[in-house]
Amino acid sequence: MSDRNRPRQKLHASNRSAVAPFLAMDVLSQAAALEAQGRRIIHMEVGQPAAPASATALTAARVALEHGRLGYTEAKGRADVRQRLARHYRETYGVEVHPDRIMLTTGSSAGFNLAFLAAFDPGDRIVLTSPGYPAYRNILKALGLVPVEVEVGEDTRWSLTPELIAKAQADGPVKGVLVASPANPTGTMMTPDALADLVRYCDDEGIWFISDEIYHGLVYEGRQETALTASSQAIIINSFSKYYCMTGWRIGWMVLPEVLVRPTERIAQSLYISPPDLSQIAAAAALDGTEELETVKAGYAENRKLLLEGLPRLGFNKLLPVDGAFYIYADTSAFSSDSLAFTKAMLTEAGVAATPGADFDLTRGASYTRFSFAGSNQDMQQALLQLGEWLKR
Ligand SMILES: Cc1ncc(COP(=O)(O)O)c(C=O)c1O
Repeated sequence: MSDRNRPRQKLHASNRSAVAPFLAMDVLSQAAALEAQGRRIIHMEVGQPAAPASATALTAARVALEHGRLGYTEAKGRADVRQRLARHYRETYGVEVHPDRIMLTTGSSAGFNLAFLAAFDPGDRIVLTSPGYPAYRNILKALGLVPVEVEVGEDTRWSLTPELIAKAQADGPVKGVLVASPANPTGTMMTPDALADLVRYCDDEGIWFISDEIYHGLVYEGRQETALTASSQAIIINSFSKYYCMTGWRIGWMVLPEVLVRPTERIAQSLYISPPDLSQIAAAAALDGTEELETVKAGYAENRKLLLEGLPRLGFNKLLPVDGAFYIYADTSAFSSDSLAFTKAMLTEAGVAATPGADFDLTRGASYTRFSFAGSNQDMQQALLQLGEWLKR
């Protein structure tokens, strides 16, 4: 290096970038390394459907590629897609939502960024569940917000309650509450009444309620309800990634309270310009692919049954209720008190990739392991066989 190019001041990454790694993605990389050596790995670590997008979505995308001029759209997304989503709310939940309140986003992940930026200021405290989806905590931290992780357990069926929020408020003002129902990693779902109580409590206390409804459509027990039925002030985040099998299309949506529509639109204009046009077109058509998507869901239901019967036979007998999504969160403390080491051994010795609970719960996670059953039925059967062999060794 010549003297002219030698740095005089050493530069550093920001403090806000020091977020924890997403362990599920780390396991995915380790699995890929083993696959590159010729090993066959069964993937139960990431929440990714094995099925492609519906034929309706693929056809619409092909037509758009051949005939359309794909460009920027309105920052909020195409008007026709927002109208189609408004119809979705009418038909699925019986709720009237004006298309102006709907905004397409680059996956629900972009929706979280936008919602947090529009609703909160630096230092604001936001309540999350622990265990919970790790990206919530990481995005909040990167934005200078304060995640307040509240431990939930069997006593509240792994959900937040107004009492738990009141306790968090006793430690300092709470500006937001974020809930996913059905949840990741637990798969548990709040009853419509419990959800409505929580939303109304937040409304009364002047707290933004953010409802991550990404696993709606994937419900096996109980009835799903959108937080919109309890309050028009709730911020709804949703996505085409899970039920609609469109992870790689990076397309999701939000339903915003009126007061946040223009602020969110202004931020989106500068952060993203617009969500991908092609994905928006495919997503609208995916809403007409229900017949095919229900078949995919029936496959998950079979996988769920297989694992709920098969895992306890192998000694995994402390499983959380799996009302929805495609995860089984298992207490694996009988096998190991270090789920990171346990899942590593499971990957290298049994050829089954699963996610250590430490991703979702910083205090109790070492005792838990998450299995995703979004893969094929054949893979799930094979996983049970391989795990059985491994545990016998
Ligand atoms: C609870 C939850 N919310 C949000 C996401 C992000 O999904 P996407 O950005 O693909 O919409 C995930 C992904 O696994 C998730 O589990």
